[in-house]
Amino acid sequence: MDTHRGVHATSLFLLLLLLADAATTEAKLAPDYYIKTCPRAERIVTDVVSQKQLSHPTTAAGVLRVLFHDCFVSGCDASVLVSPNAFARSERDAAQSQSLPGDAFEAVTRAKTALELECPGVVSCADVLALASRVLVTMTGGPFYPLRLGRKDALASSPTAPDAELPLANSTVPRLIAMFAAKGFTVQELVALSGAHTLGFAHCSEFADRIFRRPVKGGGGAVAHDPAMNPAYAKGLQDACRNYQRDPTIAVFNDIMTPGKFDNMYFVNLQRGLGLLSTDQELWTDPRTRPVVQRYATNQTAFFADFARAIVKLGVQGVKTGRDGEVRRRCDMFNGNPVVPGG
Ligand code: HEM
Ligand SMILES: *[C@@H]1O[C@H](CO)[C@@H](O)[C@H](O)[C@H]1NC(C)=O
Ligand SMILES: *[C@@H]1O[C@H](CO)[C@@H](O)[C@H](O)[C@H]1NC(C)=O
Repeated sequence: MDTHRGVHATSLFLLLLLLADAATTEAKLAPDYYIKTCPRAERIVTDVVSQKQLSHPTTAAGVLRVLFHDCFVSGCDASVLVSPNAFARSERDAAQSQSLPGDAFEAVTRAKTALELECPGVVSCADVLALASRVLVTMTGGPFYPLRLGRKDALASSPTAPDAELPLANSTVPRLIAMFAAKGFTVQELVALSGAHTLGFAHCSEFADRIFRRPVKGGGGAVAHDPAMNPAYAKGLQDACRNYQRDPTIAVFNDIMTPGKFDNMYFVNLQRGLGLLSTDQELWTDPRTRPVVQRYATNQTAFFADFARAIVKLGVQGVKTGRDGEVRRRCDMFNGNPVVPGG
């Protein structure tokens, strides 16, 4: 009887410990997490990443997209940064990862290298990605937002997870709403985060089925396009993408009006049929998302405030702390990675 109670008390104690651990996972993140261990961490990431952005202005968009792909798939744990090797595949192998741009990975690598010189083994790759994204959003004209640090890096990276968990450019709005709801995001947050498409590019294959439909009857060779699309815009895209199957590197700006500037023009564009991806334009069609697009198109302050809140929330998705993860020495490799023979 006594033994029994003893066991019971022990397991209850363990359970309480586990609960306490779960409850404080988020609380373990702190704005000044590296104040003693690497006080110049933020400064270093800011310097390295802004330099990269100045020499390669597409870096901002790339890093922001990599952050989305990281945080939406198994949490913000730098699992997307792991390179496949002779022994193991990684998220990088997924179809959805193929167009993630090299400049984004390079920006993170450069920042991490500088940090390893200053304070080796201290700042996680997941935190580097969070800091780099904020620098770049702000640098391109977007809002500044508070960041808490202390994320640990993943011990695994699944080659199948991205294709299972990330939306496609032809997902319907109900599907987008469901996918974002499954991760705890509201319809408003879905629309605010989609505003990230105020930056960067998309490859023609991502929207080809909107612009190359059957030839118009009696249209003198004209090719039909998605009727939701502005006709002049559709024509311009048909021209730009005419060789896309032979040259799959052809890409066009997500926001044709102000492509390098983080602003609310993306939403203004949607009202004019200038959305590039089907998932962009449909936000203006669906009655649940349309009022939010309307609001952001007329009020950039509202967009910035909501985007800032939403990206802070995105940035703490499934964060790993304590022994759930590690601080990687190299962002593209787990610390315990075996040495690749001959490599
Ligand atoms: C709502 C669902 C979303 C879908 C279906 C989607 C899909 C896509 C696609 C297909 C591209 C073009 C990729 C290429 O061809 O290279 C793209 C680019 C981009 N996405 Fe999204 N995305 C979504 C949400 C987001 C979110 C939430 C963010 C960030 C907060 C984001 C940030 C970006 C950025 C910045 C680019 C440009 C990347 C570059 O220029 O390298 N996207 N997205
Ligand atoms: C959506 O796009 C994916 C990949 O780009 C493709 O495999 C799929 O067939 C498309 N779905 C629809 C309904 O067009
Ligand atoms: C724009 O949005 C902000 C933030 O929600 C709000 O305070 C402001 O009143 C809005 N401005 C207009 C003109 O509606």
